[in-house]
Amino acid sequence: MNAQKSETKVLKTDAEGIDSASLEEAALLLRAGGLVAFPTETVYGLGANALSPEAVARIFEAKGRPSNNPLIVHIRSIEAAKQLVREWTPLAQRLAEAFWPGPLTLVLPKSDIAPDIVTGGGSTIALRIPAHPVALQLLLKTGLPIAAPSANRSLSISPTCAEHVLKSLGGRIDLILDGGSCPGGIESTVLNLTVDPPQILRPGLISALEIEAVIGSLAQARPEEADIASRETVALVSPGMSAKHYAPDTPLILSDEKMAFELGMQGERVAFLARQTSETLSQFHTGKYSLIAMPLTPKEYAASIYATLHKLDDAGYSLLVAEPLPPTEEWDAVRDRLNRASFNDKNSG
Ligand code: TXA
Ligand code: MG
Repeated sequence: MNAQKSETKVLKTDAEGIDSASLEEAALLLRAGGLVAFPTETVYGLGANALSPEAVARIFEAKGRPSNNPLIVHIRSIEAAKQLVREWTPLAQRLAEAFWPGPLTLVLPKSDIAPDIVTGGGSTIALRIPAHPVALQLLLKTGLPIAAPSANRSLSISPTCAEHVLKSLGGRIDLILDGGSCPGGIESTVLNLTVDPPQILRPGLISALEIEAVIGSLAQARPEEADIASRETVALVSPGMSAKHYAPDTPLILSDEKMAFELGMQGERVAFLARQTSETLSQFHTGKYSLIAMPLTPKEYAASIYATLHKLDDAGYSLLVAEPLPPTEEWDAVRDRLNRASFNDKNSG
């Protein structure tokens, strides 16, 4: 069970979470302090027993993650969440009832039960109940809170299928539970409940509007519209939000078809990601770039963005050009990920 240089086992499991043999093996490994990647409704998580400082230390080592970047702890019930926080507030209760199980992560003051390493040495803890049968079964079978960041090496794009995990962490973790593709495709929304009004630290699959419908107004609901100073403050509270996160290996810029064409003319091997079909494109397209047709709706775009970037990374392009996404609220989370994937964004805080 040594993380370094050992084989990573891959076990298929029913996406419904009923394949008890592989789930049983995964649960045994987790209880013994091992590292198990598993599917959630957002992206694959890299799980370890959240109550074991040694097991959690192995997550940081396998990912190459800075020790000050706290992990999300997955729990099976509101009761389990209450064990890990100093105070379970009425606000937390309302949000949990509205969105759990689901892709909303709540940040609250931590209790002494949670080891310091899991919260990056900080006094708050991030919690969510995942809405995926495999993840829920693992939580029930182990009876443990499971710390699980996305199952990729630090700073690269998150995995949405078992092959992505194997590519990034093969040989560094004990087991991958292959439960197929993650339906959501991008990460959960991280909401800080230790400030008043609550603040979104990371936009995600649950929108600011959906949250505001339950609890009233949020602070700075549109993180990218905030000035650089307050974006830096977010990165201090939530180190995972540093600008360079979620980047593919291949450089990506946000621009239009004309730019894709011109860079293709200059000899770059360009893939152009556009939310349209080839029929609606102008006549610049003369074989100087490959058109990657992206979905038209935010939900479908989210579901395919990481899978597409993984595929394009493997395809040998020298440059990715992506059409910027609409500046509207419904696109916030996907636009955030696309902006972070582009090197344009790297010096903007
Ligand atoms: O959808 C998801 O959230 C996935 C699945 C596996 O649950 N997990 C995930 O974890 O994306 P990770 O570690 O890749 O991202 C967690 C984010 C990071 O930006 C981290 O800085 C932030 O949440 N975070 C974790 N604990 C925090 C805390 N106590 N205070 C502030 N931010 C926190
Ligand atoms: Mg991550």
